[in-house]
Order: sequence, then structure tokens, then C-alpha cells
Amino acid sequence: MDKKFKRTLVTTALPYANGPVHIGHLAGVYVPADIYVRYLRIKGEDVIMIGGSDEHGVPVTIRAKKEGCTPQDVVDRYHTLIKDSFERFGISFDIYSRTTSATHRQVASDFFKKLNENGKFVKKESEQYYDEEAKSFITDRNIVGECPRCHAQGAYGDQCEKCGSTLTPEELINPKNMLTGNPLVKKATTHWYLPLNEHQQWLEKWILQDHKEWRPNVYGQCKSWLDNGLQPRAVTRDLDWGIPVPVEGAEGKVLYVWFDAPIGYISNTKELLPDTWETWWKDPSTRLIHFIGKDNIVFHCIVFPAMLKAEGSFILPDNVPSNEFLNLEGDKISTSKNWAVWLHEYLDDFPGKQDVLRYVLTANAPETKDNDFTWKDFQARNNNELVAILGNFVNRTLVLSHKYFGGKVPAAGELTDYDRATIDEFVGVKEALESHLDTFHFREAQKEAMNLARIGNKYLAETEPWKLAKTDMARVATVMNLAMQITANLAIAFEPFLPFSAEKLRSMINLTKLDWNKLGSTDIIAAGTEIGKAELLFEKIEDDVIEAQIKRLENIKKQNEIDNFEPAPVAENIDFEQFMKLDIRVGKVVECAKVPKADKLLQFKIDDGMGGRTIVSGIAKHYNPEDLVGKEVCFVANLAPRKLKGIESQGMILSAEDAGGRLVVIGPNGEVKPGAQVK
Ligand code: 2FM
Ligand code: ZN
Repeated sequence: MDKKFKRTLVTTALPYANGPVHIGHLAGVYVPADIYVRYLRIKGEDVIMIGGSDEHGVPVTIRAKKEGCTPQDVVDRYHTLIKDSFERFGISFDIYSRTTSATHRQVASDFFKKLNENGKFVKKESEQYYDEEAKSFITDRNIVGECPRCHAQGAYGDQCEKCGSTLTPEELINPKNMLTGNPLVKKATTHWYLPLNEHQQWLEKWILQDHKEWRPNVYGQCKSWLDNGLQPRAVTRDLDWGIPVPVEGAEGKVLYVWFDAPIGYISNTKELLPDTWETWWKDPSTRLIHFIGKDNIVFHCIVFPAMLKAEGSFILPDNVPSNEFLNLEGDKISTSKNWAVWLHEYLDDFPGKQDVLRYVLTANAPETKDNDFTWKDFQARNNNELVAILGNFVNRTLVLSHKYFGGKVPAAGELTDYDRATIDEFVGVKEALESHLDTFHFREAQKEAMNLARIGNKYLAETEPWKLAKTDMARVATVMNLAMQITANLAIAFEPFLPFSAEKLRSMINLTKLDWNKLGSTDIIAAGTEIGKAELLFEKIEDDVIEAQIKRLENIKKQNEIDNFEPAPVAENIDFEQFMKLDIRVGKVVECAKVPKADKLLQFKIDDGMGGRTIVSGIAKHYNPEDLVGKEVCFVANLAPRKLKGIESQGMILSAEDAGGRLVVIGPNGEVKPGAQVK
């Protein structure tokens, strides 16, 4: 750490308490922050990690309305669930509190008051949408209407989810209150604005000149905001859920959730350290780091710093290592579409495998670009890396130590050139890890730790102590001593990444002191140390377990397609004569079989009342052929015959296309003779 800093304050984005947390949260913010904090702690640095739930804002009120309960009920439930999920994943917060706490309400109110009294806001009247029946102003997210771009119904006042356009409520056609369905009128209302335009100049210097080391994605987003010119931002809302605006005459108004949430970092520090919190927030020898996801960049790099600067007594962040997004099986993670791997469900489905997910999410961390989580990759990384490399090396070392030395670390004899070359390969591991971790390159850092296990495996494979044991036990002792030292290195190196496994490993090898400075050395574990039973650190994950997860996601996708089904637009009109040219008949399926080498096609023998015919139809994905035999179907009888996979098809069987492209064969609604005309 830079000499000018004495301590590090790590904050992690406060997740909204309107739903559970998922792998995207963990990968984007909490695992990297936890790795970083654990790393600083082992190095003996003064560090605290602040977390908590973001409990205000419109999404909470929407969920409460949907569930028929109060916003407080919603946040109580999800705060507990989220806190528990983080704890079980070993995210080592010093405090995980919430923005509905009494401390936070006080700190956020006082913050607002101070800015207001010091003339740091601009008060402005503007016209906003108002529901006359409900007697309330409606926030952007609670307004729905027709999208002016794609004309989908149900577009929100800030965004159309169908075509992805960013909108303002004014652009919506027929805007309505989403919760009541009432039409809206415009009404004047007053709000407090943070005049970001007045902060433009110092922000430009502070970010664009003084913080060129920030991640390119963070720097780039800030630059684009600054290049576009900052505008005043409202920091209050007409809403009945939030922290009341602490000013006379502001009844019915609350602080905007993005104003109060980042102040939550300060309140939670105060709750943790009532006497010394100011050292952490006001002393320039504190290094402040915000871990966030990319949708939070502007708030943490521009808005919150402007608030802190306006207040006047706070330090500014030294770095804001923001990640990009993690997708799931190729699609954007979405709480509303249930397209996620929820942490509480993972913990139930994979008990004791927290480290596996931590490992995979770090290996695939979206540090520079969006990345994808797939269950196949999860399985492969577990089986081929955690089990086959790390687990395998540790297990072999422990088992061999028991076999040849009664579970005691043997003393090393003279080293060979090969031993020395092996040591050379990992002597620099501490510097390598530090240089990656200090610069927030967690993927690379974890690779470095895994490399240590690869070196260990190669060493055992090359030296073959099981063969040496027949002739040269002194040499075996040297080899096993070095293998044990590599194992001890692993127990230290993996602590920030895989805390549960690293602890298990330390207890297996009786390594009581976790000394980061020992990394890379060969005297971590003394000869004669008794080691425990070799237990497996990781176990293979079988195909059926992964297939069950993939199936679950497929079912969610199908359900979403059903929920979002919209009939296709009606085709251009045809005239009656054109229609009459079409000869549709009823037929009975006599035979039905799959067409070889064509995964979509079924071949039908149809009783058409006129001697029978063959029809080939592309519905093989939707039916078992035997289930169709005996069924009555409708088919186009006068379609010119055509060859499909060498079979002449004499017509077309009619199907309806349901949500998600599912095909359902159409037949008469009652008994009808084969050959009957459909009119
Ligand atoms: O995007 C979000 O989930 C916000 N709740 C993050 C808030 S971060 C901080 F400002 F509290
Ligand atoms: Zn649209």
C-alpha cells in the first residue's frame, strides 16, 4: 500500500432488499471485495469492510404492493435472507447493516441538512406526473404506457424493457399509474437538486488527470459523463417510502434512494465504530475503496464524491474497482425474469461447496468485459481444476506422508538440482500475488495460486516418491518435505480466495499461524509436525447434478416465454377467392415415424378418405410419433407435392404455434369422417 495511507476502508455496493442475491452480485462485488479484504487482513493491515442492504427506493414499494404487504415487511424479509447468504459464503463484512436503521436515518438526514444549510442544493419547481385519485406524484418507474419507439404496452417511465430504449415519462403514450391503472396529469412540485454542473471542473481534474490508474471501464464511463457535461440531479422524491426530507414544508417528500444509499456506508461505519468512525472517513491517511457493479459507476465516481465534497469534511475514494456484468448461460441475469442462480438456492443444492462457486466466479470474473456463467464450465472447473489439480496434489501429499512417515513431516536432506529448480518456480509467488491483488486483478491472482498446485503436481509426478520408496527413503523424505512445504504455501495463498478450504487444509496440516510473509518459502511447516487425516478438499460433480440445474433454467425460460407470449401480427388481407383456393381436409393418422437423419421431421401415413397419402411434417421435436397414431388432424390437401429428405410429401399438416415456438397439431373438435372438407 502507498505509504501515505495507514488504513483501508472497503465498501461494497448495498444490494436492494427487494429480492434475494444471486451469482451476479457475488461475482461483481462481494467475492472480489472479500478476497481483497482477506488479503489485507493476513498482511496485518488495518482494514474494515462495510456492507448493508439498500432498503429504500421504488422497487421495494412495487414488490410490497404486489405481495400485499408493507415495504418494511419486504425489506425485513430480504435483508435477513441476503445477510444470511453472504455469511454462508464467507463474505467477511465487519458490519452488514441496513438503510432503515435509526443510525442511518439520522446520519442521512444530518448530511442533507448540512448541505441544505450551506446552500449546496438548488431548489426547483417542475411539472411531474400526478395521480389525482391516489393523490400522489408517481415516480418514473411506477409509470407505464405505450413505448413511443416499439409501441409495446407496459413500457416504464424510465425504460422500455421490450426494445431497451431509455425513456422519460413524458415520452410514453397514454401514461398511467402502474399500481392503480389511473391516468395521470401534470402537476407542479418542488425538489432539491445537487448542481453537478458546479462540480464539473474539479471532478474532471480529480478523475481524468489524477486517477488515470482506474480500470479502463470505470475511467471511460466517467469520461463520457464528463464529456457530455454534468447536469443538476434531483436528490428528493415525492414518495412515502424513504427518509423524510428534513426541511419544514417538505411533507410527503423523501430523500432519493441514490442520495441516502451511499451515505449508508458512512452510517454503517458509525454503527460499527461509534467513537472512531470519523478517522475512517475524514483522515486523509485512510484509503477508501468502493467495490461496485458497472451500473453504479456514475453514482460512486461522480454523484457521491460531489456530495462528499459539498459536505466538505470527507475523504474521496482512492479507487472504484467496478466489474462488468456476469451473464447466465448467455442471457442477462434478471431478477424479474427469475433468470439467476440464487445464492440461497445454491447453498441448498450444493451444501458445503461455497468455495467452488467462489472459485468459478473469480476464474470467470467479469473484470474487463461481461462474462458468462455456465453450469458446464462450473462442473469443468470443479472437476478439472479444484479436484484434479489442487485437491489431488494435497491429497497425494498427505496420503504419502502418512504412508511413509506415519503422518509426520519428514526432515529434508540434501536438495537436488531439480528440487532447486522447482523451488525457483514458486519462490516469487508472494510478489506475483501481491502485484495482482494490489491492482485488483483477482482472476490473475487466483491463477497464480492455482499454479502453485500445478507445480506441486508436476513435482510429485517427476520425482515419483512411490517408486523411490523401494530404494531410497532418505530421498523420499526430502521430496515429501518439499511437497509439504508447497501444501503449506497453498494453505496461505488460497486463504483470500477459498477461505473454507484453506482453513480445512491448515487444520489438516496443523498450520496454526497464517503468515503471508512466509509465502514462497520452504520452511513453513517444521519437520516433525504431526499432520491430520487426509480428507478430500473437493469432490467430483457428476453430470446428473449439472443437468438438473440446466433443466431448471430451461423450465424458467419456457415459463418466461409463456408469460410473455404475444400473438404475431395478423398478415395482410386476402380476398375470399384466394381463401377458397385452399383445400383443407380432415384425415386420420394411420402411421407415424421419425424420418432417419432428420431431427425435425416426422413421416405420416394419413387416411384421407380417398385412398391415403404420405405427408412429411416438421414437428418431430414436439411429439413422440406413436402418440399421434389414431389422431384426427387437419391438412392442406392441394399443396403441390414436394420432396423432403427424398420422401414426397403430399400436403401439409396444420399446427398452432404456441409460446416459445411449441407446435400443437390442429384437429376437428368432434368426430369427423376422413376426407371431410374444412370450410
Ligand atoms: O444497484 C444497486 O443495487 C444499488 N442498491 C446499489 C447501491 S450502492 C450504494 F450506494 F449504496
Ligand atoms: Zn419499446
